[in-house]
This record gives sequence, C-alpha cells and structure tokens, in this order.
Amino acid sequence: MADRTINLDVYRYNPDVDARPYFDRYELPFRHGMTVLDSLFDVLEKKDGSLAFRYSCREAICGACAMFVNGHYVLACQTQVDSLKTDNITVSPLPHLKVIKDLVVDMTPFWNNYKAIMPYLVQRAETQEKENIQSPEDRKRIDKMVDCVLCSSCYSSCPATWTGNRQFLGPSAMQKAARFAFDTRDAKHGERVDLVSTEAGLFRCHAAFNCMEACPKDIPVSEAIHALKRASMARRLGIGRK
Ligand code: SF4
Ligand code: FES
Repeated sequence: MADRTINLDVYRYNPDVDARPYFDRYELPFRHGMTVLDSLFDVLEKKDGSLAFRYSCREAICGACAMFVNGHYVLACQTQVDSLKTDNITVSPLPHLKVIKDLVVDMTPFWNNYKAIMPYLVQRAETQEKENIQSPEDRKRIDKMVDCVLCSSCYSSCPATWTGNRQFLGPSAMQKAARFAFDTRDAKHGERVDLVSTEAGLFRCHAAFNCMEACPKDIPVSEAIHALKRASMARRLGIGRK
C-alpha cells in the first residue's frame, strides 16, 4: 500500500507577537490507530516545538483536549484520524473562547461558573455516619449526566455565551447542577435548583440545542437543563422538592 500522508492545518496564534491568527500546514505520515492528538504530538516532536495544546489523560476522561476539528467539537485523544474520512484536517481551538496560545483557550469563565454551582455531593444528615446507598434505578436517572468530562465544548457552542455575557452559567455548569440536584444521595436539591433559577442561569437558556450537538460524550445537556427548569417551576408553585 502506498504511504499515506495527512495534511494538518493548525490554527496558530500567539497574541504577544502575532497581529492576527493564521493556519500552518503540516504534512504528516499516517499510521494505523493515529488520533488527532497523536498528529499534534507529531507536529510538536518532529516539526514545530512551539505548538501549544492541552491534554492530560489521553483516554477521553479529563476533557482537556477538546478542540474544533473539521467543523466539529471533539476530544482530540479519542478521535481517530481515520474516522474523519479525509486526509485534510483542520484543527482550531474551541470557538468563541479567548485564545491564550494556538489551541489553548482561557477556561477561567468556564471554571468560575462551575465553581458557582456547588459542584460536589452534600450528604444527607442521616447518611453521614453510614453508607449512602442509591438504588440502580436512581443511579440510572443520572447516568449520562455523570459522564460529563468538563471539556467545555457545550459552553463554547452555546449562542448565549457568545453574546458577551460571561456571567451566563452556560450549559456545562447547569448540567452539572442537574447531576447533583437529581442525585438521590444529595441533600441540597432545592438549594441547587434555586441557585441556577436566575437570569444568568436557567432563564438565559433559549434551548438552541447546540450543546447537545457539540457534546463529545453524547450527554443530553438540554434535557438536563429542562429538567431543572421544570423543578424550578415546581418550586415556584410551592410543589417542588426541598
Ligand atoms: S456536557 Fe458534554 S460538552 Fe459539556 S462539558 Fe460535559 S462533556 Fe463537555
Ligand atoms: S487528553 Fe483527556 S480527554 Fe483527551
């Protein structure tokens, strides 16, 4: 079989020295099993050591390598080059987020929003001294929500975050709020729902559904947000859970 070459167009931008972003093209030999992240390592190690990108686990569980590849949000470490069905690959940073350098974006607003939703389980008093048991059925209800790897693809894809309102909690933080609010082991359902029932939270979500499309973990983000909206309404009507 003839040697196969891939053409990698990579977004480059160093705000300290570049007037504007540009793309660099790298021609790389393809190898079986190669991921997009592998191709970036090939660039880094063999072509240009100044290329900046994030990664950590290389197993699709840390979310650090989220990027925009050929027009899709992906985790670079789990995306096989072969799966792209083309040898012309364009790699860009997550859109609508401030670029620090090349493929590295500023995640500060994302993490600030995450911190704001109390992102940890609060034990009920009666379970503090013993095992906090959950039935398989109750766990199943939050199964998909638990899968979130905090990659921020949904946040980057959401039109409500593009409008300059960085106060908007964004889809990821709200789906994480749902993950705890609907966890039967948690003691703070009502407080969590109230926390996101704000102009900058649930009511700024206009259900564009971009988040569902973007999520590389196939999490039904909009559904989680809508479940919170229903819980919020129930509380306002005085029939919601505490
Ligand atoms: S919901 Fe999906 S897209 Fe959003 S941060 Fe979690 S894993 Fe990433
Ligand atoms: S490096 Fe952790 S998700 Fe890709």
